[in-house]
Amino acid sequence: MSTHLTVVVLAAGQGTRMKSDLPKVLHTIGARPMLAHVIDSAQFLNPDAIHVVYGHGGERVKERLQDLPVSWVLQSQQLGTGHAVNQAMKEIADSQIVLVLYGDVPLISPATLSRLVDAAKDSSLGLLTAELGDPTGYGRIVRDAAGNITSIVEQKDASPDQLAIAEINTGMLAVNAGQLRDWLSGIDNGNSQGEYYLTDIIALAVESGVRINAISTLDLPEIEGVNNRVQLAELERVFQQRQAKRLMLEGVTLRDPARFDLRGSLKVGRDVEIDIGVIIEGEVKIGDRCYIGPNCILKDVVLGSDVRVEANSILDSSTLGNHCLIGPFARLRPECQLADDVKVGNFVEVKKSTVDKGSKINHLTYVGDTRMGANVNVGAGTITCNYDGANKHRTVIGDDVFIGSNSQLVAPVTIGDGATIGAGSTITRDTPAGELTLSRGEQKTLKGWKRPVKIKR
Ligand code: UD1
Ligand code: CA
Repeated sequence: MSTHLTVVVLAAGQGTRMKSDLPKVLHTIGARPMLAHVIDSAQFLNPDAIHVVYGHGGERVKERLQDLPVSWVLQSQQLGTGHAVNQAMKEIADSQIVLVLYGDVPLISPATLSRLVDAAKDSSLGLLTAELGDPTGYGRIVRDAAGNITSIVEQKDASPDQLAIAEINTGMLAVNAGQLRDWLSGIDNGNSQGEYYLTDIIALAVESGVRINAISTLDLPEIEGVNNRVQLAELERVFQQRQAKRLMLEGVTLRDPARFDLRGSLKVGRDVEIDIGVIIEGEVKIGDRCYIGPNCILKDVVLGSDVRVEANSILDSSTLGNHCLIGPFARLRPECQLADDVKVGNFVEVKKSTVDKGSKINHLTYVGDTRMGANVNVGAGTITCNYDGANKHRTVIGDDVFIGSNSQLVAPVTIGDGATIGAGSTITRDTPAGELTLSRGEQKTLKGWKRPVKIKR
């Protein structure tokens, strides 16, 4: 018989210790909500359904994660983990295996979950446990003389002997739904916290002759929960180190894996080198032999091969061809398309523009809403004046144009192919192809003119 799996993710807790207006499970690891990480891992198991138990005021959780293939179950009062799981049971057929996960334990791996589900086969209860040097706060796994698990006792209800037990309950378990339903109806809240403990089903399972099949993991971060922002930061680092390691094994040189942040997905070609302090966001593709210099931010960009992005450059929602040279201190704002061999130098901002092959915008320039041809040379200090205070206008620059330094191109305006613009010009009308156009006061010299001198008192 094939197992039909239903996942229940508990996410109704308040998260008071986060001291936040944001529901705890929406706090992010690698820019993705913790709850989304858990759902991602669960999806690897191809469950029939994923139910997320959310709390009162958790509408924001639903809203933020509405694209995920889960069904939402409201637990309007947080009466304990057993009560929380019970809210989802109405939706679940007896023949299913139920896997219980937690929205604030974000790094749980599909491999471990798959072992846990296997541990529930043959009518056993699969329980994920871990040995901790400091088990304080966790439920303890109580075993009999023969080593069989007999119950779980919570920290607050434990005897001194039980508090010395290092084996803890991670909270994650897998078991047949029909049995789970029976046991949940048999638990009460007669304990020190006045809660319906999910952990109380262990003793009931043992009573009804069900074997408790404990599996454990040595990888502790995957069972760690987040209760405050210190723990959030710790798991963020673990997550980033893992991504960095994976990328290095895929052939990327990271100058310092501890100073690399990936907040999204990164696809790389061969022999890519990434210097320190780089942040990659959204979906980024980097071609063969690219170099990304220190302190760059790349968000939703595609780079061809042999591109160099020098230090302190910010690239957003743009596409670059091969052999481009960007920065240092360059900014590509959304919707730029640079062809092969384009150079964008220091203190240059380009926005919503296409730049054809071999054009150079090397220093101190703003290019916006522009269609630029091939082999154009844009002099230092050039500005496309694209905004009249109300509307944006386009600048069109032909092939082989040379724009002298400190020029303003007042859009809408077209510079013909092969045109030259004299340095210091303010261009307000279209300029003809192949000709020199300039607008500039004539230079004169006042012979014998003397500078004023300070009057002595
Ligand atoms: C629980 C376990 C404990 C285990 C620990 C691991 C119980 C009784 N105890 O303790 O054995 O070692 O987790 O971290 O299960 N939640 C709801 N609704 C509720 C109560 C809780 O959704 O009514 C969610 C919380 O959001 C949280 C999770 O369940 O994500 C755990 O709840 P919490 O109250 O923190 O349980 P612990 O005391 O940590
Ligand atoms: Ca907890």
